[in-house]
Amino acid sequence: MVTPISDIVIPPSRRYRGDVTAPIDPTSTSAWAELLAHRDSFDPDLRGWFAADPERVQRLSRTVGDLHVDLSKNLVTDEILRSLVALAEQTGVAERYAAMLRGEHINTTEDRAVLHTALRRPAGAIPPLEVDGQDVDHDVHEVLDALSAFADRVRDGGWRGVTGKKVTHVVNIGIGGSDLGPVMIYEALRPYADAGIRALFVSNIDPTDLAQKTADLDPETTLFIVASKTFTTLETLTNARLARDWLWAGLEASGAIAATDAARTDAVAHHFVAVSTALDKVAAFGIDPQNAFGFWDWVGGRYSVDSAIGLSLAITLGPGVFRELLAGFHEVDEHVRTTPLAENVPVLMGVLNVWYVNFLGAQTHAVLPYAQQLSRFAAYLQQLTMESNGKSVRWDGSPVTTDTGEVFWGEPGTNGQHAFYQLIHQGTRLIPADFIAFVNPAYPLTDDGRDVHGLFLANFLAQTKALAFGKTAEEVEAEGTTGPLVAARTFAGNRPTTSIFAPALTPRVLGQLVALYEHITFTQGVIWGINSFDQWGVELGKQLALQIAPAIEGDAAALGAQDASTRSLLEYYAAHRTP
Ligand code: F6P
Repeated sequence: MVTPISDIVIPPSRRYRGDVTAPIDPTSTSAWAELLAHRDSFDPDLRGWFAADPERVQRLSRTVGDLHVDLSKNLVTDEILRSLVALAEQTGVAERYAAMLRGEHINTTEDRAVLHTALRRPAGAIPPLEVDGQDVDHDVHEVLDALSAFADRVRDGGWRGVTGKKVTHVVNIGIGGSDLGPVMIYEALRPYADAGIRALFVSNIDPTDLAQKTADLDPETTLFIVASKTFTTLETLTNARLARDWLWAGLEASGAIAATDAARTDAVAHHFVAVSTALDKVAAFGIDPQNAFGFWDWVGGRYSVDSAIGLSLAITLGPGVFRELLAGFHEVDEHVRTTPLAENVPVLMGVLNVWYVNFLGAQTHAVLPYAQQLSRFAAYLQQLTMESNGKSVRWDGSPVTTDTGEVFWGEPGTNGQHAFYQLIHQGTRLIPADFIAFVNPAYPLTDDGRDVHGLFLANFLAQTKALAFGKTAEEVEAEGTTGPLVAARTFAGNRPTTSIFAPALTPRVLGQLVALYEHITFTQGVIWGINSFDQWGVELGKQLALQIAPAIEGDAAALGAQDASTRSLLEYYAAHRTP
């Protein structure tokens, strides 16, 4: 019987501070030394490996939830994979995961627990989770039930705008984690939107965003959700004020409300709700606390879509769909909690990424969904992975000893094929890529009797095959090509990919997919010894923007305080600004 990871007991000798384990320098482990030796004698040969080993695909294919994950086209042998798993063991991935699940304050720089996994625990889970005196399960389900009830009211017309009309559009105003999760999932699951309510997402402080998104909306049927964990984010609060002005102006212009303070307050009460951990600030903004949904500081912004931050999803897709999504997340959490590292899919994918970054020199990682519905998936993953693992100090403040987070990027296939795939196939850089596809389409269209989705999937399969096995000069010549064109048409192959295949893009499958990447990110972070749950790197720019804003408005002292380059750009701005 395998001990679940969550039951791992961490000895006092492994503690660095209070209940937090010390990071282990990965380069000091025996696994790292083994991996260096593998790297030095490494001669990747996917063609040869597949030819010599008919069991390779089976041995390197895994299932997690409904996801079939084929790792066989990665540049690893069994020995390398064993050493990579040993690296995860020796750097304490399992013990840190256990600490996270127990609610220990593994987010050291903010002294917080990290409990996004608690957002998707089923009601009545055993044993109950109590952290820092909080009955976490109770609180999570209380908010989830309130959110579901509110979503149902909006969907069935029980909740109406100030003039008595049913809501037709919800506009989520938020940025970063308060935007990217909801928008990505909304786009992915739009076929489930069944209540005649559309969602729009305003995030950028560029006023174009709000102006264009509200241009065709009717204030009488629009509900704004102001989503901000801190309720201090400049972009979100500015956009919320602009939205409030737009609402009042529209309602007053049509005579729907009088231009009085009382009528305006009433309009806000009918057209604004909020999601935040700072409910006092919500009230100060003028949103009735009755219409606000809370969450907790132990939910990081980029891990918050499972919290009340998902309100736009519960309204447009329905609370049932939202709960299915959470169930999908939970299935992968359970897989991680109960599966030995060597079989643990996110751990395996995480250690493969470490292999590429730290041993084979990869600087980026492509994520290529063969699903138009996942058009925002790469953008979502960029915050998840790069805000989490873009660090150069470890969780005890010491410098990292290795390269850390790679750049994640991507576009849905087949669009990417006609844009940047050339570089992945024949460029000089190693770009590991995850291909994601679904057997059954949301829209089963045919073209002249041919299943278009089948054609789409043929491309998914063809690309990973071409990347892995390439095309030799002999094969090119056998097709009649001669001279310098032979080299141009030759594909080296050995370009690593992971294929993730699932029956269909259902809410449950999407939850599994997102949780998979959360845990991949976690695994890499632990190996590198970094706190994947803070984001101090975004603070300096925020502070400086506040200092520069007066200079934009013409304040001479603020202008004079800038460096020469910033001053010259401000002078350009002043010279070209249309009065
Ligand atoms: O600036 C980074 C960040 O703090 C993200 O981590 C977060 O998701 C985003 O800003 C939005 O923050 P909030 O939800 O508090 O408005």
